[in-house]
Amino acid sequence: MLDLKNLSSEINLKIQQVKDRETLESLKTLYLGKKGIITEAFKSMGKIDADNRKNFASELNIIKSNLLDQINSYQSKIELKEIEEKLNSEEIDITLPTKEIKKGKIHPVSQVIDELTCIFAEIGFSVAEGPDIENEFNNFTALNTPEHHPARDMHDTFYLDENKKTLLRTHTSPVQIRTMLNNKPPIKIIAPGRTYRCDSDMTHTPMFHQLEGLHIDKDINMGHLKGCLDFFLKKFFEDENLEMRFRPSHFPFTEPSVEVDISYKLENNKIVVGKGDRWLEVLGCGMVHPNVLKNVKIDPKKFQGYAFGVGIDRLAMLKYGITDLRSFFEGDLRWSNHYGFDANDVPTNYRGLSK
Ligand code: PHE
Repeated sequence: MLDLKNLSSEINLKIQQVKDRETLESLKTLYLGKKGIITEAFKSMGKIDADNRKNFASELNIIKSNLLDQINSYQSKIELKEIEEKLNSEEIDITLPTKEIKKGKIHPVSQVIDELTCIFAEIGFSVAEGPDIENEFNNFTALNTPEHHPARDMHDTFYLDENKKTLLRTHTSPVQIRTMLNNKPPIKIIAPGRTYRCDSDMTHTPMFHQLEGLHIDKDINMGHLKGCLDFFLKKFFEDENLEMRFRPSHFPFTEPSVEVDISYKLENNKIVVGKGDRWLEVLGCGMVHPNVLKNVKIDPKKFQGYAFGVGIDRLAMLKYGITDLRSFFEGDLRWSNHYGFDANDVPTNYRGLSK
């Protein structure tokens, strides 16, 4: 039978020799490990006669819990000592220069969308959105462009199925339909977003951006349309003298339809928007066709409205002097650093003309 008195004094001796984590760990294994002395002693208790067994067990338990207490207090002392040593040996040099943080740039398209959102918010337009993948009803039929209408071919549509039912939207006008189907007039929204047509050269890319505008209410007329566009164009190009002209045109979903030109001049072969003797087409618009209103269950006798669609990329090119549209979507960091904007530039502190 193990001599517990001996064991106890042996443990006390060994404890005093503990210096660091390693010696503490080996002490732990020696007595309390799987094959440790105390563990084994518990296992062999069955061999002790019943009279002595109880005493033996309670004494052994006392020794074990004492040992555990000692081990725990040594452990915290050792940890404290380690932290102190670390603090004494390590130094932080707060004068060292920090690593350079690389900041990204805001793409001109995002910038222009933010500017436009701010401008139109001032005159009561909220933002609506629709999906890039559309059905032919929203993109064409509801917009008074039935099947076999020549305008469908003119759009160079990317169809997504053989039956030509699903497509990549060719303009943001389907958002007009979605908004009118889901809301009752008065409606006053802009809808910026990606649009797609099978086309590519200096001024066309297969994916481009448009901003749609729609205002439906009682007694809305061409004068409201003109006032709205005049406000937006002057504010966007930051030029009170900017002139605008309406040119008759045709869109199936507006009647009458017009295209809008703005004045500009050439300086050193560069386009400068503002007062000038030349005209540049920037957008299409008109009064919403009664058939369109009927298609979305709005009574054209009660409500009228105007709609417009403007190319966002084109606005960005004109305002910020970017000549090749394709470069917008190449993802070249040098281009982004040159033409991009700092995150804190606009829109919250948009510096358009105050009126
Ligand atoms: N959706 C037309 C286009 O892409 C523009 C437009 C919008 C014209 C709204 C009139 C009214 O060319």
